[in-house]
Amino acid sequence: MSNYHIKTLEEYFQVYRKSIREPENFWEEIAEEHFLWRKKWDNVLSWDFSKPEVKWFEGAKLNITENCIDRHLATRGDKTAIIFEPNNPDEASQHITYRQLYEQVCRMANVLKSQGVKKGDRVCIYLPMIPELAISVLACARIGAIHSVVFAGFSSTALATRINDCDCQMVITADGSYRGAKTIDLKGIVDEALLSCPDVKNVLVAKRINSDINMKDERDVWLQPLLDNASTNCPAEIMASEDTLFILYTSGSTGKPKGMVHSTAGYMVYTAYTFKNIFQYRENDVYWCTADIGWITGHSYIVYGPLSNGATTIMFEGVPQYPDYGRFWQIVEKHKVNQFYTAPTAIRALAKQGSEWVEKYDLSSLKVLGTVGEPINEEAWHWYNETVGKKRSPIVDTWWQTETGGIMISPIPFVTPTKPTYATLPFIGIQPALMDETGEELKGNQKEGRLCIKYPWPSMARTIWGNHQRYKDTYFSTFENKYFTGDGALRDEVGYYRITGRVDDVIIVSGHNLGTAPIEDAINEHPAVAESAIVGFPHDIKGSALYGYVTLKDTGETRNQDNLKKEINQLISDRIGAIAKLDKIQFTEGLPKTRSGKIMRRILRKIAEKDTSNLGDISTLLNPEVVQNIIDNSL
Ligand code: PRX
Repeated sequence: MSNYHIKTLEEYFQVYRKSIREPENFWEEIAEEHFLWRKKWDNVLSWDFSKPEVKWFEGAKLNITENCIDRHLATRGDKTAIIFEPNNPDEASQHITYRQLYEQVCRMANVLKSQGVKKGDRVCIYLPMIPELAISVLACARIGAIHSVVFAGFSSTALATRINDCDCQMVITADGSYRGAKTIDLKGIVDEALLSCPDVKNVLVAKRINSDINMKDERDVWLQPLLDNASTNCPAEIMASEDTLFILYTSGSTGKPKGMVHSTAGYMVYTAYTFKNIFQYRENDVYWCTADIGWITGHSYIVYGPLSNGATTIMFEGVPQYPDYGRFWQIVEKHKVNQFYTAPTAIRALAKQGSEWVEKYDLSSLKVLGTVGEPINEEAWHWYNETVGKKRSPIVDTWWQTETGGIMISPIPFVTPTKPTYATLPFIGIQPALMDETGEELKGNQKEGRLCIKYPWPSMARTIWGNHQRYKDTYFSTFENKYFTGDGALRDEVGYYRITGRVDDVIIVSGHNLGTAPIEDAINEHPAVAESAIVGFPHDIKGSALYGYVTLKDTGETRNQDNLKKEINQLISDRIGAIAKLDKIQFTEGLPKTRSGKIMRRILRKIAEKDTSNLGDISTLLNPEVVQNIIDNSL
């Protein structure tokens, strides 16, 4: 018997050791006993980080939707697979059983086929958190099409970039979306994006807000009538283990967003196994992850991980503050949620409103609390533990990335003793390493360095769509023969890890990964701007917020600075999305640069953090004189 469900610390250590000493045997047993294969693999793992190339379960054939849906029908056909909780609490929630999910996914898959989508084609999904989103994702997987979900908060320009990068021929969207008291014109955003996406042939439109929208002849089709006429039977396409399951874009520190490519079998095995253990999911539990399926958290831990375990997973369309700050807890009470998984930024925002919002509701169903996306500060951890969890529900602080596909470092609840702000121990099969700046591994405890992973794990991204060289340069070139995460971490006296934050130019704002380069590009489009630099600074709710230093062109004109700030933020909103707007904008005479012309962000970061005591040696800068001026005018 494989160790699919770990229940004690002793068992964790024993299984961990096995997973490191004999990784292939270990993963083979997990894969063999807990999944449905059309054909078994010839080889469990082949890898070479110098290329880099990683293949898991080569030779195997499967379809992930048969694992997530079909195989549960005999025993869990009437069990709820997805609970849809709408934005507005007055609208009824929907309970979709595994059988209904099967039928709806088959219908959607047949619709995609009837619109000409074939195995290997890319389909862009730009939908709000409504059931059609999960169903579209699964329908793509059913027929072997590659889904590329774009978070429905991204702007038309950001959407167009993502559609064109992987050459999607179809977009699935909705007339609009609800967000608290507001509605968003999603279809209008798609229309604008498609002005620069000539290869998109079809747009399927779900009806959500019943708005009056423009439907373009021969391109746009309402989804519902097609679904109504489609068959509820769609045989699953048989996929190879390394066939691409999906592409998901994430920000890089430079350049355009990276389309991380995830493959099928390894991703399935790892997300299922982590879900089972890190949430200690039991058969009749109700699990809720508040993320959006537009992010990796939603892919792995709303859709694939829970469904492959036959779990009941909640999809929430709304926001934590609507209609009031009790909404999360009202949902926990309503659906008797057992596992609750959210982001530190949401915890901080809710904690700020006071405990009364939590205390109004019965949260006694909660067993496990989770966090993801950014470091959680001590205060937020304690509030979560005491006010929400009543010190009964362990907090799993889960560290991972879009690139890793699944959770990498995390406590196992009721197994690993937790420690505030620590993600604690590596999950089964994960071999972390801390590196110093010279490329030496820091062995032993009480060390701090750059976080790498030394050995492949099943759900790691295989490449960047269309740019394998960038994949190699970004992740496998900083440290030889290791995957470099871009994060810093420390290991304490017992070997627990604490993630200290990014060591590159990626800034995590409210749990969203934002690269500085695309934001600076957007700002620099403003005709009055000469150049700009973005850094992060601490923010009590968002974790980090964005501080922009902007140098204007010297035209001799005087401009109203407040208007300029508004225009700059509007540009950012248009090019990327409202999530990337700047909290502070400082106009500068110049930006500190090295003699080779590189902007010294380290200095700007310190000024934004109001820590100017130790700026280092600035005399070697090209223009040291600008620094004092920036300090004097800092915000
Ligand atoms: O810096 C780390 C931070 O989020 C980054 C990954 O962002 P993304 O690809 O958008 O995926 C987020 C959801 C998995 C990481 O490089 N991060 C994620 N989880 C944690 C974290 N930082 C500290 N603690 C965490 N638990």
